[in-house]
Order: sequence, then structure tokens, then C-alpha cells
Amino acid sequence: MKTLQLQLRFLIPLLVALVIAALVVLPLMDQLTLRWFSRDLNTRGTLVAGALADAIDDGVSSGSSARLQALFDRAARDERLVAIGLCSNDDVLVRHSANYPTSLKCLEAREIARRPDQRLELPTGAVHVGVHPASSERANAGTLVLLHDLSFVDRRSQDTRQYLIIFIIGLGFVISLITMVVAQLSWRGWVSGMRAILRGEGLVRPLLPPPELQPVVSEVRARLRDLEDEFRRSEGLVTQWNPERLRSLLHTQLRGDQVIVVSNREPYIHERGPNGIIAKRPASGLVTAVEPVMRACSGTWIAHGSGSADREVVDAGDRIGVPPQAPDYWLRRIWMTEQEEQGYYYGFANEGLWPLCHVAHVRPVFRESDWEAYRKINQRFADAVVQEARGEDPVVLVQDYHFALLPQMIAAQLPRATILAFWHIPWPNPESFGICPWRREILQGMLGATIIGFHTRFHCRNFIETVDRYLEARIEHEHSSISYQDKETLIESYPISIEWPTQQMSAVWPPASECRRRVFERLKLPVDTCLAVGVDRFDYTKGILERLRAVQSLLETHPDWRGRFVFVQVAAPTRSELDEYRTFRERIQRVSDRINQRFGNEHYQPIHLLVEHHERDALNELFRAANMCVVTSLHDGMNLVSKEFVAARDDEQGVLILSRFAGAARELTEALIVNPYHVEELADALHRAATMPEPEQRERMGALRMTVREYNVYRWAGRMLADAGRWRMRARIEARVQRYMQA
Ligand code: F6P
Repeated sequence: MKTLQLQLRFLIPLLVALVIAALVVLPLMDQLTLRWFSRDLNTRGTLVAGALADAIDDGVSSGSSARLQALFDRAARDERLVAIGLCSNDDVLVRHSANYPTSLKCLEAREIARRPDQRLELPTGAVHVGVHPASSERANAGTLVLLHDLSFVDRRSQDTRQYLIIFIIGLGFVISLITMVVAQLSWRGWVSGMRAILRGEGLVRPLLPPPELQPVVSEVRARLRDLEDEFRRSEGLVTQWNPERLRSLLHTQLRGDQVIVVSNREPYIHERGPNGIIAKRPASGLVTAVEPVMRACSGTWIAHGSGSADREVVDAGDRIGVPPQAPDYWLRRIWMTEQEEQGYYYGFANEGLWPLCHVAHVRPVFRESDWEAYRKINQRFADAVVQEARGEDPVVLVQDYHFALLPQMIAAQLPRATILAFWHIPWPNPESFGICPWRREILQGMLGATIIGFHTRFHCRNFIETVDRYLEARIEHEHSSISYQDKETLIESYPISIEWPTQQMSAVWPPASECRRRVFERLKLPVDTCLAVGVDRFDYTKGILERLRAVQSLLETHPDWRGRFVFVQVAAPTRSELDEYRTFRERIQRVSDRINQRFGNEHYQPIHLLVEHHERDALNELFRAANMCVVTSLHDGMNLVSKEFVAARDDEQGVLILSRFAGAARELTEALIVNPYHVEELADALHRAATMPEPEQRERMGALRMTVREYNVYRWAGRMLADAGRWRMRARIEARVQRYMQA
């Protein structure tokens, strides 16, 4: 567009110059040249006539027509003079040179000589007609008609015309260039001046708006900024991460190689119910994130078959195609006995590693028997990976703290596999980690991976420092890599996220007002209620108790909220086998009852505790109905609930209150960031969210939505897989170099 503008700025003046030249300048120049030459020829004619006058007089008075004829013929031999004729005083042609056109009578010659161009067209060419008195001192012999050749005039005019055309084109070029430069400079000046004014910088003095226009300029400036923001929010990135982009990355950078995911929790759990077998989605951030990636990659997902009807639906290889309605990938189920699950999952993973990594003031418990079960189950999953691998170098995505030993175990059997181990929970500092009796084995097991991923740089640093403390490894801080026993592992941060709802998905969502109506009706809430929601697994790391304390504080310090502020906590039951979880649940129940008794009545309950698993649509409805979502984790790798709330609010309303100890706080900076341990600070945030004006909510939510849409789960997986692709290419090049060196 810009080039076209430039070309036009250049071409238009040039064209204008040419048209003016063709229509005006050239004909004018022809006329002028002819006049100049006519004048010259007339002067010349007068001289010739003067020079011949005496000789003509002699010839006429002697009556010698032969002398006269000879005189005329001699004179007509002149290069320019074509013919000569003598008219008597009564305008009769009495004598003429040989090539004089006798049809040209004396009177007609006079007439032509009076015209400005004095031009006569003859079959031999154009001539100039001049009439001059042939008078001497002695007598008046009549008038001489002199016909001068005009062809040289035409030749000269043509030459002049050519020079003129060249000159005009040159001039046109110069004008065009000048126009272009001036236009460019003045447009830039104008635009930057305008921008300066609108930015309020006032850098360009003459462009400063007069004071009376200042409010208008401020208004325009504000509107422009709003429009710019709105445009960016609605358009998003041109290069948005989505399933197609991830698929294409898999095909280009990983040459369509097989992708195998390993996690403890399975993406679909088959349960036997009163109406037969149903497939349920578990309450798991990991599943929320990895499932859409698997749908895009079509690989194999290996997970613990924990559902009551899981065995009934798999094939002979313990596999089933999922999602159940339209299978995109394989789910391979691994079985374990209750005792194995007790040791590996409840014991080592959730009584040991979970509290060890979440500094949430619950002591980790480490038992030998749990450790043995953990090793045994890790080996079982490693063997399953080898069974499922179609070649010797699959890409294996190992998920979470349940499988710290798996990378090394897989690498022992498939040394050419690319293993990405993603740790979904925080990594503590070296001192905290040091209380684990098997700290060295855990680190060694993880370093079997090609890449180890955490949500934040902070957790990467903790991990590197832990390795530095407990293993003899070489650490390259600049490349964030660790070399241990001749094997290099990259340590990188990949903040996990959710699948951003497509337009088809959100098109079927009921409007936010309708969601609010339904939820309010179900919970029997008055229409003017301010609704806060919390959605979590029922876990002591989530800060549920801290939320309840903050609600109590709010109702104490702002009694006007009593009867109008309701907090709904959805708490999906989890790890109920463990004492810590059971006592935590009982405690939350007790505290909720106490608050309800103190501030509630038969029509009003400030706390609604919904201890049950909610399906995705139900959660979406709740998020869309709420005035705020409260995420107060005491420590959290990322926390995807905060991102799901943001994704649900396409009306750009609702406030997110977010703990600074959740990984998400580093990305979602427009949330109200809180320290969940500080009761009054959290209560203030509840009050601020409840009274936040709609425009402020829109600003904050708009910005949050832009972040989550851009940093979506496909970007998370895409960045990891792209790193894996680079790593594989490097390995291939190294292998080729080795071959050349050996050859
Ligand atoms: O937070 C880490 C994490 O693995 C989540 O990804 C997941 O939601 C949860 O822990 C595991 O929960 P569960 O033990 O119920 O599978």
C-alpha cells in the first residue's frame, strides 16, 4: 500500500507534466518558431529586394527581358530562396524565375504576406511568401515576390521540439521527486505531530493544541487507546497457538514421530453406575491441560486404570480409543493392586513427595515400603512405554511427581527416545528437598530425561540448586542444562495452560445472565447477592480454610454484606484414603458450619460447601454466574482454575482473586494478587472485588483473557515439543559427524 502511494506520488506529477507539454507547450512553441523565422525571412527579403532594385530598374528601363530573366534565375539559385517574381505597380506578374508557381498571382501573394505565418503549401514543400517594394533611388519598378524555403524551419522546429520534450520530461522527474520528498516529509511531520499531540507530549511546538481544544484532544486520545486495546483483545495474535499449529509442528520438527504420554491419572474413567457404564472426566489440572494436546497429536496415553468399570471396556492389550464419542488417541491402562496403589500413589507420591514439594506445613512421611512400591510401579509404566513404542525413538511425555524414576528407566531400554519430564507441582529449595531419604535416586531418575520442565524459572532454579547440592553433576547455568554421567539434560520453564475455547464452543454457552439466573435459582439466592466461588480438589494446599477465615472477617468488618455475600466452594473429593485429607475435610466442614451459624439464618447461608465432582459444563455455568473467583493456594505449581475462570468470562466481567504463591500469579497480573495467609488482606480483596466498578472489571478481565488466550496449552506443548525437535536434530547431526570421523 505504502509503495503504491509512493509510486502514485511520483507518477502523477510526471503525467501532468507530459500532458501539459503535449497540449499547450508544443503547439505554442511551433507558432513562436514560425513567427521568429518569418520575421527573419522578411528582413532577409527586404535586403534581397534592396540589393536587386537597381539591377531590376536597369533591366526594365533597358527593356532587356533576357537580362532580367538571367538576374532572377541567378538570384533564385540562393540556398533559401526558392523563387522570385516581379509584380508591376498594377499587380500583374511581369517577370519571374523559372520555378516560380505561376498560379500564385500578385494579389494573392500580397494577401498571404499579410498573414502572421506567411506560409504557402506548394507540391514541392512549404514556402514563406514575402512581398517587398523593388524601388531604387531612380524609379519604382514594382514589387518583388520572394518565396523562401520553409523546410529548414520545419527541421529546426522538430529539433527544438525534441529538446523541449526531453527538457519537459526531465523537469517532470525533478518535480515528481521533489513532490514525493515534500509529501513524505510533511505527512510524517503531520502524523508525528498528531501523535505527539495525542500522546500529550507537545514535542512539536506549533502543533500544540490551543488550551480550549485540550479536553477534546484528551477525549480523542483516550478513545483511540480504548479502540487500540479493544482491537488487540478481540483480534489476538496472528500466530496464535492452536491444534493445527501443534500438529504441523509435530510433522515438521518431529517428522510425525510417535508421541506417548504417561501420567498417573487417566483422562477418562469408566465407572459402573445405576444406569450402566459411564465415562467421567477427573478433576485434574493435568488432565485438563494434556488431553487437548493428545487429541491434536493422536498418540498413546498410558495411565492408571482406576475406574470401577475400566477393565470391562478395554481390548486384549488393555487399550481403548478415546474420547469415547469420537476417538482421537489410544488410552493404555495399567493395573495395580490396592496395596501397590497404597504404597506408590497414596504413600510415596502423596504422603511423601506432595507435602515435600508444597511447602504447606504438612509434614511429609517417607516409608521404605512406599518407596519400594513407587519403584515397582515406575518400572511397570516404563515397561508399558517400551511395549507401546512403535520405534526406538518415540517422544515420551512423562507427567508429574508420580514418575520421578521413569525417565531413567525408559532411557535404559530405549536410549534413543526423547523423554520430556514435566513436574506439575512446585520444586522446593535444596534444604527442604534434603529431608527425602531417596533424594539422590529421585534426582538421578529424573536426569534420565532429555528435558525437565517446570512451570516457573523459580522452580527450575530450585531444581538446579538441588542437583548441585546432592549430585556430582556439571551445571551450565547459561544454557540451563545439567550433565550427569555423560548425559545432558535441559532444564526449562514451560508455564502450563488450558485450551482456549473456540468460537464453536463458546457459541453454545448460555448467556452469563442466564447462567446467573439458573445458579441463583438452584442455590435459592436473592438477586442482589454478591456471589464468590472457589473450585478445587479438596486439598490442604488450596487455601480453602484461609478463604473461610477471610469471609468471616469480611462479614465482621462489613456487616452490610451479611445477607448479601455468599461464598460457594466446590470441592472435588480427592485422596480420601489419607488421614491428612480426611481431617482437613472435616475441619473445613466444621468451620463452614460455624460461620453459617454465626452469620446465617433460615434464608441465608454465607457458605455453601458443595463436596462433589462437577462436570465441565456445570463449572462453566458457575464461573459465568459469579461476581468473583477466589484462588488462594498456599503453594501451587500453576493453578488452572484461575485460567478456566478467565476463559469462561467472555462478558469481560467478574474479578479474579489470586494467591501470589500460585505459578499463575506470574502471568495473570491483572488479578487481585493476595497473600492468602493474611486474613485481613484477603478480606479486603473480597470487599474490593465485590464493589469493583464494571469498567474496571472489564479492563482487568479483558487483559487477563488476552494473556490466557495467547499463552494457551498448545503453546505449552508446542514449546516443549519444539525444544525436543531441536534436541533430536542435534543428536542426529552428532551421530552423522561421528560416522564421518570413524569412516
Ligand atoms: O497439581 C498437580 C497435579 O498432578 C494436578 O495436575 C492434578 O490435578 C493433581 O495434582 C493430581 O490429583 P490426583 O491425585 O487426584 O490425580
